[in-house]
Amino acid sequence: MHCIRKITNDLTWVGVNDRRLAMFEGVYHVPEGVAYNSYLLTDEKTVLFDTVDKAVRQRFLENLAEALGGRKLDYLVVQHMEPDHSAAIMEMAAKYPDMQIVCNRMTLTFIKQFHDFNMDSRVLIVEENDTLDTGTHKLHFVMAPMVHWPEVMVTYDSTDKVLFSADAFGCFGALNGALFADEVAFERDYMDEARRYYANIVGKYGAQVEALLDKAAALDIGFLCPLHGFVWRKNIGSFIEKYALWSSYTPEERGVMIAYASVYGNTENAAEILACKLHGKGIRSVMYDVSVSPASDIVAAAFKWSHLVFASTTYNAGIFVAMEAVINDLVSHNIQNRTVAVIENGSWAATSGSLIREKLSTCQNMNILGETVSINSGLKPGQLAEIDRLADAIASEFPAPEAPQQGKTAPPAGVDMRAMFKLSYGLFVLTTRDGAKDNGCIINTVTQITENPRRISMAVNKANFSCDLVLKTGEFNVSILAESAPFRVFEHFGFQSGRDTDKFAGCDDSIRMANGIRYLPKYTNSVISGKVMDAIDYGSHYLFIADITQAIVTSDEPSVTYQYYFDNIKPKPPSPKEKKEGYVCKICGYVYEGDPLPDDFICPLCKHGAADFEKIK
Ligand code: FEO
Repeated sequence: MHCIRKITNDLTWVGVNDRRLAMFEGVYHVPEGVAYNSYLLTDEKTVLFDTVDKAVRQRFLENLAEALGGRKLDYLVVQHMEPDHSAAIMEMAAKYPDMQIVCNRMTLTFIKQFHDFNMDSRVLIVEENDTLDTGTHKLHFVMAPMVHWPEVMVTYDSTDKVLFSADAFGCFGALNGALFADEVAFERDYMDEARRYYANIVGKYGAQVEALLDKAAALDIGFLCPLHGFVWRKNIGSFIEKYALWSSYTPEERGVMIAYASVYGNTENAAEILACKLHGKGIRSVMYDVSVSPASDIVAAAFKWSHLVFASTTYNAGIFVAMEAVINDLVSHNIQNRTVAVIENGSWAATSGSLIREKLSTCQNMNILGETVSINSGLKPGQLAEIDRLADAIASEFPAPEAPQQGKTAPPAGVDMRAMFKLSYGLFVLTTRDGAKDNGCIINTVTQITENPRRISMAVNKANFSCDLVLKTGEFNVSILAESAPFRVFEHFGFQSGRDTDKFAGCDDSIRMANGIRYLPKYTNSVISGKVMDAIDYGSHYLFIADITQAIVTSDEPSVTYQYYFDNIKPKPPSPKEKKEGYVCKICGYVYEGDPLPDDFICPLCKHGAADFEKIK
């Protein structure tokens, strides 16, 4: 029986989920399954965008037949020839004899390589910026080589503003009845899988993804329809921003990923001690045992975190086998722009440290710290100083967040109504308390709604731990941030979760409003205490309506507006315009930096010649 969902009046999802697949592409575990998306446009002509994997093609054909409602299929647009999206082409060609295949020349070559049937008379070849009118819809074809394979193209429907993005903007995980990203808590439940998908599937091809992002920037996108994962119709910019970070190899989070390989626990012990010391300095760390965690998890984590530590025993006079696989994976996925530290172990001839350094030194812009800890079998007390030195060297790259503490005198009681005039569509630190647990997060929607009684509204994303605490305790403070607030305040309260971090560690415990909840006396201009009267579930957010129980003015500075934050506080990501000049191999994605490309240049990866390179735009 069919299982389909409408996206717009004319567009239907006819894809299929697969929860039985153990290893996607034979390499990546998919414990939550995977979705193979296919989309049917029903205009004067009918157009199908890609097909599915052979494992699910029977259900897909039922879905397609239902969505067609007895009509014939006029076009199959093949955007990507990888078999998880093209397994049903032959069956479809037989079932829909009038169907034309719309693809580019390289795709046609691949169709002939993967399939054995004569389709030349049924192929419509398209090139960059070619269009296809299907009645009321107009399709624009945009080439996206190496996002993931060289033949990949995407399609833009300018009528309904739909970008069919092929592998770009995909995600691991079955859809479970939801189709749109706004129907799930994507940031909380799926962002890790979206990052793992990106890093492992297209992470190597940052320059090519940036080229696609440049092209997409010129489009008005209302719907983003990838070949895996959810369809985006809201908040699309937030996901595109993630892609801008990932494709430029910019860390998302400042903190340390520690991956270790330990046969008898001694190397693990050194890694654990380092992690404790880092946390003691207020630096977050995550840890992976390379013998247990799948390499794809570690590659994704390396794309997320700013600092990487590799601790490995020596094995067969080299790097421990699982660690060597991870390091090779990172190098082949083009990891760059990271600070790296190494711990090695070897009972008689430790070589793993120098070999890891050697491999990672081939990556671009890697700051490999000179402080190395070398262990002979087990860490000895005298070596704790070496771990300390390594922790200090890492910590020296983390400016200590200035503890928000000032003004020890108790704030005046009562409501200072001037605090109301400081409200704007700005940025705020929402602070909460549950027993001994203090927490705070960044929010951006606080508004006065009535003067008598004095009430405010406040929207809080459900993914925030603070949302849980406000729901539980019914009380909170809102500190209104001023223009002097440095980026580290936003990092401190916005880029880490109170579920695993004490955001007020080391702060003066007396700085609290009358409700006993902390507030920020510095970098703010006012603080408002609220008691929740109502909480309304709006999907991704709770909207809280609260009585004002106390309000104080802390400075005369202007409030930070969103615009001010983006213009003056948030660090600018590297502009695509600053990209180096160069050429990219259309076959394998290798990037040659420099201009011109020598005529006799041979790609060091795939051995194709200069004719197969194109200039990076
Ligand atoms: Fe899901 Fe590159 O294919």
